[in-house]
Amino acid sequence: MSGPLVFCGLPLAHPIVNGSGTFDAIAARRVFGDALLEDFPFSAFVSKTVTVEPRRGNPPPRLYEVAAGLINSIGLPNKGLDGYLAHDLPELARLPVPLIVNVMGSTHDEVARLVEAFDERDEVAALELNLSCPNVKTGLLIGTDAGETAALLSHVRPRTAKPLIVKLTPNATDPAAVALAAQEAGADAVSLINTLRGAGADPRTGAPFLGARSGGVSGPAVRAVALGLVYEVARRVRVPIVGMGGVQGGRDAADLLGAGATLVAVGTESFRDPRAGTRVARELAVLEANNLQTAAFRRACRRAVLTSGRA
Ligand SMILES: Cc1cc2nc3c(=O)[nH]c(=O)nc-3n(C[C@H](O)[C@H](O)[C@H](O)COP(=O)(O)O)c2cc1C
Repeated sequence: MSGPLVFCGLPLAHPIVNGSGTFDAIAARRVFGDALLEDFPFSAFVSKTVTVEPRRGNPPPRLYEVAAGLINSIGLPNKGLDGYLAHDLPELARLPVPLIVNVMGSTHDEVARLVEAFDERDEVAALELNLSCPNVKTGLLIGTDAGETAALLSHVRPRTAKPLIVKLTPNATDPAAVALAAQEAGADAVSLINTLRGAGADPRTGAPFLGARSGGVSGPAVRAVALGLVYEVARRVRVPIVGMGGVQGGRDAADLLGAGATLVAVGTESFRDPRAGTRVARELAVLEANNLQTAAFRRACRRAVLTSGRA
């Protein structure tokens, strides 16, 4: 890689971060101890979604395995803003990498409250807005609609100088239009993709298996969708992109970077391999070194041909 990597003003050691809600750094530290801090798998940590009020999440079962991935209907359980500030933030602030807090609200004022609260905290390097939430006034899923997204951004943008990353849902007719609207209303970056809506049938009864009936599909099953949307969004916006969806190895990360992403997030793969972030970053570095060597070799060959042509 040429020169240090900087994303929204944050210098990062490598381009691999985690997908929100897929790596519990607090639980991982309990299991792996301080060794986790010395060899943290990601160059920045994205926390799971925080809402103003505490949420219990969806009724079980909450996970359904599919051939190439997972359907989850976790339902964003969290301690709420006060609980997060009191309990999670002090622990996450000890991580050796910048902290990006993911927030969600169902009204403009709720999101504004979250943004203002985290704006005051030096421990927080950036905010990610999870727009996969219905607007209680219009009933529209905010992130599926360019107008709703622009309106929300216009409301919260003036409330923080911290980088705002807008997380895009693939469950929109035109996610690139939503990305463009977010950029024009002041987003510093976009991240994509969140999960795709899906369901699994109970093999015994044929009824929906998940407690919430449906959930979000992730993992290798959505990789091609993610890559396709990153290509599309990269053609429409100039802000940096965090690409994610089904990344399992360095090759998948390289594909998303090649499509226009600046960072790549590892999500579902971390459930299978908690050190996946480190592995993907290492595999990516090897691929990039090989590519550089290949490019240098091609340049040397071209020079040799040109020189021999002149002789
Ligand atoms: C169990 C689980 C929980 C998730 N929780 C959140 C969340 O709290 N907030 C959010 O914005 N995305 C959440 N996501 C979406 C992921 O961050 C990511 O966008 C998606 O899973 C696609 O990446 P992947 O295929 O690598 O998992 C969750 C995904 C999974 C599988």
